Amino acid sequence: MGLFNRKPKETVTITYISHGGARVEAAVPVDTSVMEGGVSNSVDGIVAECGGACLCATCHVYVDEAFLGLLDPIAADEEVMLGNTFCPRKPNSRLSCQIHVTKALDGLVVRTPEAQH
Ligand code: FES
Repeated sequence: MGLFNRKPKETVTITYISHGGARVEAAVPVDTSVMEGGVSNSVDGIVAECGGACLCATCHVYVDEAFLGLLDPIAADEEVMLGNTFCPRKPNSRLSCQIHVTKALDGLVVRTPEAQH
């Protein structure tokens, strides 16, 4: 496929809201992660020390309740790491590196905790 007939990557809009209330509305490519979208848009509060390997819990976010049912279930390794978040785990806590961006997540809102470590 030539350079000029390559299709642009499909994106969805994700809003990241910091503990202090700062909002970043980002166009995040489908088939990436909510963590990657945050890092590439310089979202304060997503540290992602392990680069998405589910080993650090510094990508912890609180997911808007309206979207919780659209996410893949929490896998065993994420469950373990959610026990290691710096700020308290809540019922809507997820690790953003484990949230796969799909078209259904267009409009997703996540809040970052007060601190990641
Ligand atoms: S980036 Fe390390 S657990 Fe998500």
